[in-house]
Amino acid sequence: MKPLPEALQALVGQDVGAIDTPALVIDLDAMDRNLQRMAEFARKHDIRLRPHAKMHKSAALARLQIRSGAIGVCVQKTGEAEAMQAGGVRDIYISNEVLAPSKLRRVRALAQALQAENGRLAIAVDSEAGVQALAEAFEGLTAGIDVFIEIDVGQGRCGVAPGPQALGLARLIATLPQLRLAGLQAYHGRAQHLRSALERRAEIGRVVQEVTQTRQLIERAGIPVELVTGAGTGTFALEAASGLYGELQAGSYLFMDADYAQNERDPAQPPFEHALFVKSQVISGNADHAVCDAGHKSHAIDSGMPQVWQRELQYFSGGDEHGILRGARLPALGETAWLVPGHCDPTVNLHDFMIGVRGGLLDGKVHRIVRVDARGALT
Ligand SMILES: Cc1ncc(COP(=O)(O)O)c(C=O)c1O
Repeated sequence: MKPLPEALQALVGQDVGAIDTPALVIDLDAMDRNLQRMAEFARKHDIRLRPHAKMHKSAALARLQIRSGAIGVCVQKTGEAEAMQAGGVRDIYISNEVLAPSKLRRVRALAQALQAENGRLAIAVDSEAGVQALAEAFEGLTAGIDVFIEIDVGQGRCGVAPGPQALGLARLIATLPQLRLAGLQAYHGRAQHLRSALERRAEIGRVVQEVTQTRQLIERAGIPVELVTGAGTGTFALEAASGLYGELQAGSYLFMDADYAQNERDPAQPPFEHALFVKSQVISGNADHAVCDAGHKSHAIDSGMPQVWQRELQYFSGGDEHGILRGARLPALGETAWLVPGHCDPTVNLHDFMIGVRGGLLDGKVHRIVRVDARGALT
């Protein structure tokens, strides 16, 4: 774990102006409002919340989510699960397939460590080979592991087809004493970013039908399906209203990136605010444009360029270390430009620490430093 540099620790209590650029900054007041809105939504709909910690990669933020009602967290990587466990999180679901023996040994060790702490580890599967490998890795252990069968509900990524394929896998799992079928995972990644609320509603409506039929098929074969888990920030209100899903996996709601802000909001969904920013400084310019010191090494661009917060400026790529700002009123040399990243998950992964601010981005003070515990945890 990276030690907290003294210069960063010394920032706590200082004005926002003291933060050197480029830096990843959390508006903690906005983040708290997002946290509370989501927690309240889950309570009102009587549904479990298991936020995706691959977004913030921070055990401290995961613990905060759990203190406000989340049941535990999802992660995507074994290394992320290890970082969460090391940071005190006790209920972890790897919502992804793990196949390599070296990783499965780590999964076994992690499951044992969590069981010793009265915690729990679960994992997704989508193939017979994956199920067999997992069962072998857990051989000889009295307490096994909970597994969710991942169904491909339209993303065309991992998952078995709904229907008989899922049943086949459920039958296999039922024969293996080390594994316990905990339910189905039905996460529709592509639907999250459909811009129109109507389109998202139609897609999730279809998914609910298919997964309901799959669940019935498995249960008619005498295998109980306790839980259906899934959903992200773009669609969770639909899954929550479906009567099928018992758990929501949304992650990005906590920081709310520029890409998600372009979705037409479903009225059933609480509003979320931008809470993650890259602070940058204007270091050059002319009559045509200004240049800030935050390029693509400070923010991910897979979902588009960042947006300039509260300024009528557009950000254009200036390469790894620079951003080109254009607009009618250009900022002067030395001014701050706050950028809202296009995609929060890979942006966070570019930083060791996030600087938490209270009292607003303009006049606030640094309140705490948040470590990105699972930065680079790709295996
Ligand atoms: C399996 C799974 N569940 C949930 C999420 C959370 O989605 P979001 O961060 O868009 O809310 C993701 C994100 O990619 C995911 O892959």
